[in-house]
Amino acid sequence: MPASGSRFCQCIVVFLMLYACQSWIDYIETVMREKPQSIVHPVLEQLSFRQALSFPRFIKEQFMNEPQRIEAAKAGDVNRCTNVCAVTDMNTQLSVSTNVVWHRATVTRARREAQNGHRGAILWFTGLSGSGKSTLAHAVEEALHQRGCRTFVLDGDNVRHGLCGDLGFSAKDRQENIRRIGEMAKIFMEAGVIVLTAFISPYCADRERVRGIVERGDFIEIYCDTPIEICESRDVKGLYKKARAGQLAEFTGITSPYEAPENSELAVHTGATDLDVCVQQVINKITQHGIIASANSKKPCATS
Ligand code: ADX
Repeated sequence: MPASGSRFCQCIVVFLMLYACQSWIDYIETVMREKPQSIVHPVLEQLSFRQALSFPRFIKEQFMNEPQRIEAAKAGDVNRCTNVCAVTDMNTQLSVSTNVVWHRATVTRARREAQNGHRGAILWFTGLSGSGKSTLAHAVEEALHQRGCRTFVLDGDNVRHGLCGDLGFSAKDRQENIRRIGEMAKIFMEAGVIVLTAFISPYCADRERVRGIVERGDFIEIYCDTPIEICESRDVKGLYKKARAGQLAEFTGITSPYEAPENSELAVHTGATDLDVCVQQVINKITQHGIIASANSKKPCATS
């Protein structure tokens, strides 16, 4: 091919590349203009050209539907797509933190776990109010503590006195409640602790989102499966009575939904089974998952 012909081809290639870049930038701008604020966050507007070009995956996530996002979260994709704390969820409060860089600790989770003699994990107890979540979580903690494990219980009513004291019981507030608890539980777990959480956590998507921010096997969902009739007959706090009388709005199981887990690691019939037996079921389950060494061991737990 004559030299002029090859130069012409080079010009065409450069032109096409420039055209592709321009189209990509136009696309980003269109998305930013057209998508509502809740979907594309203002943080995008601060992105550099280089960051914008590395954003196809991020943009793809914005168009995922809920089940797809949950799958992605389970696979560990969500929230790790960029070095900017950007949007991963259309429904939750969006992160506005920019220019933040993760600092790696030299005392790692593995070293903490080796010192503790067991793995860190999140045991997530979910169920209706009065289903026995707190009772079971504390009884499991007692058993683990006696075996020398490092543990902590995060309890719904307690956490709502402080960290989540600004939240009510609307779907949005419950979602934020569970998001905060999930992040808190993750910190505990990375400190090598077996953290037991006792929250109604009525929405599947919220629980799955927490599962999605940790590694597979770190999140053990335990469904305290007690029928509402039993919870209501116990009515330890008198809240069912108030809800039936119309004095308490958005009460779970009465005027607000509870989505029972379909694939929890364990379902415990806390309304019909003795507490000791329920505790043993949980201990067996976490032994199976390699979080602690042996259910019968009297010694401190051994790292798996
Ligand atoms: S969650 O739905 O956001 O997970 P959480 O577990 O923190 O709820 O708090 C539940 C506790 O708050 C219940 O055990 C109960 O004592 C109290 N509570 C007060 N109002 C409500 C309500 N409307 N629905 C459910 N629980 C309520």
